[in-house]
This record gives sequence, C-alpha cells and structure tokens, in this order.
Amino acid sequence: MDRDDVPYLDATLPTATRVADLLGRMTLPEKVGQMMQLDSREDLDDHVLRKHVGSILHTSPERVLRAHDLTTQTRLKIPLLIAEDCIHGHSFHEGATIFPTQLGMAATWDPSLVEQVARVTAVEAAATGVHWTFSPVLCIARDLRWGRVDETFGEDPVLIGELAAAMVRGYQGDGLADPTAILATAKHFAGYSETQGGRDASEADLSRRKLRSWFLPPFERVAKEGCATFMLGYQTTDGVPITVNSWLLDEVLRGEWGYKGTLVTDWDNVGRMVWEQKLQPDHAHAAAAAVRAGNDMIMTTPQFFEGALQAVEDGLLDEKDLDQAVTRILTLKFDLGLFENPRRPDTERQRVIINHDDHAALNLQVARRSLVLLRNEGVLPLQKGRIAVVGPLADDAQTQLGDWAGSSGQADWLPDGQPRDMITTVLDGLRELSSQEVTYARGADILTLEPDPEGETFPDGQPRPHIVQPCPPDANLIAEAVAAAEAADYVVAVVGDRIELVGEGRSTATLDLIGGQIALLDALAETGKPLIVVLLASKPLVLPDSARNAAALLWVANPGMQGGRAIAELLHGLIEPSGRLPISFAAHAGQQPTYYNQIRGQHGSRYADLTQEPAFAFGEGLSYTTVEYGDLHVETAVLRPDETVQASITLTNTGTRPARETVQVYVSDAVTSVSWADKELKTFKQVDLGPGETTTVELELPVAACTIVDQHGCRVVEPGEFVLLVGPSSKDLRRAEFTVKPQF
Ligand code: NOJ
Repeated sequence: MDRDDVPYLDATLPTATRVADLLGRMTLPEKVGQMMQLDSREDLDDHVLRKHVGSILHTSPERVLRAHDLTTQTRLKIPLLIAEDCIHGHSFHEGATIFPTQLGMAATWDPSLVEQVARVTAVEAAATGVHWTFSPVLCIARDLRWGRVDETFGEDPVLIGELAAAMVRGYQGDGLADPTAILATAKHFAGYSETQGGRDASEADLSRRKLRSWFLPPFERVAKEGCATFMLGYQTTDGVPITVNSWLLDEVLRGEWGYKGTLVTDWDNVGRMVWEQKLQPDHAHAAAAAVRAGNDMIMTTPQFFEGALQAVEDGLLDEKDLDQAVTRILTLKFDLGLFENPRRPDTERQRVIINHDDHAALNLQVARRSLVLLRNEGVLPLQKGRIAVVGPLADDAQTQLGDWAGSSGQADWLPDGQPRDMITTVLDGLRELSSQEVTYARGADILTLEPDPEGETFPDGQPRPHIVQPCPPDANLIAEAVAAAEAADYVVAVVGDRIELVGEGRSTATLDLIGGQIALLDALAETGKPLIVVLLASKPLVLPDSARNAAALLWVANPGMQGGRAIAELLHGLIEPSGRLPISFAAHAGQQPTYYNQIRGQHGSRYADLTQEPAFAFGEGLSYTTVEYGDLHVETAVLRPDETVQASITLTNTGTRPARETVQVYVSDAVTSVSWADKELKTFKQVDLGPGETTTVELELPVAACTIVDQHGCRVVEPGEFVLLVGPSSKDLRRAEFTVKPQF
C-alpha cells in the first residue's frame, strides 16, 4: 500500500479522518476482531490472522515480537495494542523494578510518590513494547476475606481517589504521544469489591445510592484526570452484570461524567454471562448484549468472534452497531501514534532503563514509606545485641513481592519468579545492616496444596486454584527457633500470608495466621526475649495475643524488591517509621466489616461476645517520636456552601527524633436526611517536624466537599451543624464545630 494514497496512513490528517477512512475499509470480521483482546499464550497465529484481534495481553518478550510480525501479514496492518497487568511495577518482565503492592503504596499516603512509581513503571513497560496497563485498582476494600484486598488502595474513597489519580498521571505521562506513556485503566468499575462473604466476583449487593455515595467517587475522580480506559467488573449488581449495565455505563459514566475513553471488559465477562451467570443463552446473544451496552474491547472471550458474526446474521446486531467501539479503539491507536511507530520492544533501551539505579532508589524510598509501625514498647530502634531472625517469610523472596509479580501464577514465562539477587529479604537486610550477630531459623511452615476435587480447570478452561491445607506446627522447627531466640537478645519474627492465599478466586474464610505460625509466635513469646513481629501480609490479618502484645509490631504488606532492606533500616533506626494504615485491622474475622466509615444506626455498638473495635483503625501508625496535637481552631464557624472552612492546628514533636506526620481531616455531618457515615476523611496533609519543633498546620476544606448523597441519588451539602475532626488517625481526633447556612 502506498502511504500517500491511503488517508488512514497519512499522519498529517486529523485522527477522525483517518479513523473514518480505515473504518470504511474494514470488513465485518475485521471489525469484530478489532474489538477483541486475546491471551497471547494461546494460538497467536489464529488470533491475529483469522480473528483479526485488536489487542493481546499476557505477552512474553518473544511473543510480542511474533505478534507484531504476524500483524504485518494482515490486510490492513492495523497495529496491535499490547496490554499487561503492570500493577506495582512491570510485574511479569524479568528483572523489572517490582514495587510494594498497591495496598503497601497506599500506606505512604503520598500521591506524589505513587505518581513517580507509575511513571517509572510506564518507562520500563513502554521499553518492552507494552502500551496499556490494567492499573490502578479503585475498588474499596471492605471485607478483608476477599482475596484481592492487596490490589486496592484500602478502604477510603478519598484516599483511593487521590492515589489513583496520581497513578493515572504517572502512567500517562505527557499524553499519549509521549513514547514513555502507557494507557492507564481504572478498574474494576464499579462495586466489584462489595462481595458476599468476601467471595470473589459474587453478586455485589449495592444500591445506586450506595454506589454514588462511596464506590463511584474515586472513578469519577480519575475520569476527570483523563484516565484513558475503564475496566468493567466481573460481578452482577442488582441482578445485572456490570458489562451490560446501561445505567452505569451510559447514564453515569458516559452521560453524567462525559467520559470519552475506552471500555474493556474483565476476563471473559461476555462468556461468563453464558456459562457462569447464566444470563444469556449463547455467545451470539451475549455478544449482542455487550456491544449494545457500549463495551469497546472484549477481553479473552474467543467465542465473541463467531458470536458477534452470528448475532449480525441473526439480526440481533447490525454491523454499524460495532462502529462506535471500533472507532474508539482505532482512535486510541492513532493517538498513540502506533500506525507510524508500533512501539515495538526496544532491547537497547531496556538494557539502559530497566531496573535503573534511580528506579531501585525510588523503590527503596517507597518501601521505607510504606512500613506501618503498629506497636512499639520501646524496643525499637534496636540497640546493640544479637538478633535471631525467625519465621517462614524471613527469607522468602518471591512471597515478599506479592501477587501480580514474577511467579504469582499469571505468567508462565517466569516460573521461578523475579531474579533472587534483585530482592532483599528481611534476613538479607538484617545481615547487611547489622553489626551484631544475626542467626536464622525458619520456625514454621505455612501451607501445602491439594488439587481441587472439582477439577483442574473451570468450565472456561482457566486453571482452578489449588486448595490450601495449613501445615501443622512442627515441634522440631519450633524448638530450633526457640533455641535461636534464647541465644539472642532480640527476636525478629517474620510471619504473614503466602501467594496461595491471595488473589482472584483465593479469598480466605479465615484471617488468622495459618500453619505453624501462631504456635511459633506463642513459643517465642514464652522465651521472654523481646519479640518484634514483622507482619508480611498482603492484607490485614487477625493476630494472636503473642503478636498483639509483642514488644513491637510492624505491618509491611508485600513490600517489593527493596522491602527487606527498608525493614532492616527501620528496625535499626536508620529511618523514621511514617506509614499509616489505609485499611483497618479486625480483631476477629467475625467482625467483618471493620472499615471506619460505616453507616450509623444499629442496636448497641457491640457483639454480645466481642466489641466492634478493630485491632488497629484506619489511619493509625506510630513514629519513633510523639507528636502532640493542640486545639483545633476554625476561623469562621458559620459558612455558606460556596465558602471554604479555614482551620488550623498546632503540632509539637515532643520526642527526640524527626517525624513525618500525616494530618488527617475528617468531617461529621450532625443530622442527615438519609443514613450516613459518622465521619469521612476529606483531606490530609503530610508535615515534617524536627525533634522539639512546633508548627501550625493550616487546613482548608471547601464546604462543597461536605456532601451526602440524598434519597434521590443527588450529592448535596445539607445545611446545618458539622464537626471538623483533625488528628493522627480515624480514632484520635480533635473537634471543632461549624455551621453551614443555606446559600441564600
Ligand atoms: C482479571 C482481573 O480481574 C483483572 O484485574 C486483570 O486486569 C485481568 N484479569 C487481566 O489479567
């Protein structure tokens, strides 16, 4: 084809002209294929040459090259969109920088840091030919049994919205023409995390008002930020799969919010309507419903190809019904400049940029900031003395990286995970940084796996997770650990969960530490040696007394490649602890849910046999110093809805070490027309305070942010009394009242 005679190949023409020209040349099968994204681990030739796919995902470095080569053999040579789950780093690229998980990043409460993580991820991913990442996750984590809590930014919509918007900025860089930009995806739109009993992808029992109140605001935030794509959740809500929920997709997303981006389904959402949810009789009907609902890219439903063709033949769809979706996908490809430069992998750039020293340094910085010190009875920072490092996770490099990384199961080209020498475990870190003697004993095993009697695969051919069997406590391993503890001055016990207890289809019934871990901690506590528990857990777990009463307790989520070094630095007092919980820790699994912003109104405030108090609440976290909050002062106590609350509070660092304090600002609306949360985070500010330093923090809160969603689903400020709440966590707050009067 001569470029000059073919408008869609002419880069000087506007995108809309190029798209219209190309669309006019496409056959029905080419249009159907353009709407499809298939798994590159399957038959690539068939995907590209017969089904004319528009996109592939889960692509090894070799297969991405093969896919591009196949594209050059196609009639129209439409470049492919290469997509991957680069969730906390370029997860499945060997040697890429793997950061703490999203929940770990959330503990930093620092949007600028999270933006830098996304930028680095984009730079590394773009060099390998990836154009599109399925990140960030904007789900609100509420039931801790859910297997994907680690992928979220925690339980609060404002924190999620701020961090997610930062990530979108980081991924998309200076705009899609920037060769280091990758498309961001806001997922999983919307309400997917509101599972029944924590069971993955079960019906989310949500009213439209609840969606508008808490689940949609983070998505609206990133839609405004220009997030290029949205992924639609697996679940049904009020009986309707999100993929065909026209209220959510048409009225809210594309209508009210004016979203112009591209929608991608989640994995086989279209097929699931047939084989799992049993809402469509066959793939032709399912394809027709998905197209009509406005989906653009259909992820991994190979039957969509024949299904959509059949739907057109049977009159369920008209060929032109596909045009809008194909237009959106082609527009993305033109905007990325893929027709001129398909952004193939660049091996020379990869050599220079992947795991660049600056990226490793950023990773260490994020890991440091993600650590949340929950208890310290004066044992930390460690003084001189021998250290016994024990526990099954003290030296488990791949577990430290968490889900969506290396060997976590999604990529078959990295069976052994990320290179061991790029990962610093807690044992490595302590050995490197300690001048004193460091000994090690594993102390316990966590689990073994058994095949699921229901079969190796689900009806769609996807592998079924194996069933977890907790290991019984092992007396010999415990005895070894106890001997190491007795010979030492301090015990650092690294316990938590493993990848087999994390992820899709891997929700847990229990939140306990499983296997021999509780027996190990109990035995270590018995020795009377100062016990420092490092909880390397993807999500909040319920801790035994031996951990809750330990000399110190540090939650580190899955802290990424540099995690062990950051933890060792913290234990030795080389850095200051500054992470704050983005999610509450339950005291018992039966308390679920324990998120802080629950709707008020119930009989009493406790169970007969237990309080509802979480073990640790949203926003909590200690420093190596103490910061005192003075009185909260509101400038003007009576305001109109268009005004801004101006407040100030004085903070004093009363200790001898520096502090990075996260000042959290909540609002409580005294009386509301519909039931509402007793308090909600509205904003936060990080302040550095030297030892002994006092500073006054000025806070601003637009009254327009003090909203509820009324019975008609409208977000409104209801005039009346409010309480401004400011403090170091959701459970330790200073109060000042203000009144909102009607606008006129
Ligand atoms: C299914 C997951 O739910 C989603 O988060 C992910 O992006 C896709 N699979 C692609 O791997």
